[in-house]
Amino acid sequence: MGRKFFVGGNWKCNGTTEEVKKIVATLNAGEVPSPDVVEVVVSPPYVFLPVVKSSLRPDFHVAAQNCWVKKGGAYTGEVSAEMLVNLDIPWVILGHSERRALLSESNEFVGEKVAYALSKSLKVIACIGETLEQREAGSTMDVVAAQTKAIAERISDWTNVVLAYEPVWAIGTGKVATPAQAQEVHAELRKWLHANVSPEVAVSTRIIYGGSVSGGNCKELAAKPDVDGFLVGGASLKPEFIDIIKSAE
Ligand code: G3P
Repeated sequence: MGRKFFVGGNWKCNGTTEEVKKIVATLNAGEVPSPDVVEVVVSPPYVFLPVVKSSLRPDFHVAAQNCWVKKGGAYTGEVSAEMLVNLDIPWVILGHSERRALLSESNEFVGEKVAYALSKSLKVIACIGETLEQREAGSTMDVVAAQTKAIAERISDWTNVVLAYEPVWAIGTGKVATPAQAQEVHAELRKWLHANVSPEVAVSTRIIYGGSVSGGNCKELAAKPDVDGFLVGGASLKPEFIDIIKSAE
């Protein structure tokens, strides 16, 4: 396929100065495939971004876990795309299901955030995924297609977009999607991109899986043709994150 494997680590709202130092030391000591084989991006909370960026091995990169939808200003508590660019933070995660649920981030709002972040030359990990109720109702593809459409309607260049399919029912639950379930949705998403964006974007866009990925299940998932990598939560805080990166081989 020619798509470079991508492994993201979403640290979420976790860490102390000491814990972050230990995680970075573990990452820096890890033996992993070359950057030609796998792209690794870790995403600490905002407050640790500068120290992680300055101490992390040069073949790994950092992402913010969110950013504001427009130019900074009177938006208390927000962090702007311009601030991330100023700190030389290259990536940002947008549309995570936890923000969609807890902060009522709509598809349209996420689409606008993705467009604005890209316009400031950030690279974006754009998250989509259905809830258990939506899956049980048979509406998985309707949901993820609507989420993807809200992004596609607002951007013209997918070069710096990685699409992360994260079924909400698999996040933090230990209930990982089966490789067949992940492949089915990833393949349907790629068909959606082919039909609604372009054949070139469909072939080149990396679609990564997130939701209880571990050192024990990553190999089987990585073997699926339309699984181009992972967005890892809990396991990205542990030494097994190195094993997950190695699943790129
Ligand atoms: O963004 C990745 C995250 O949502 C997955 O979390 O803990 O199930 O790997 P976890």
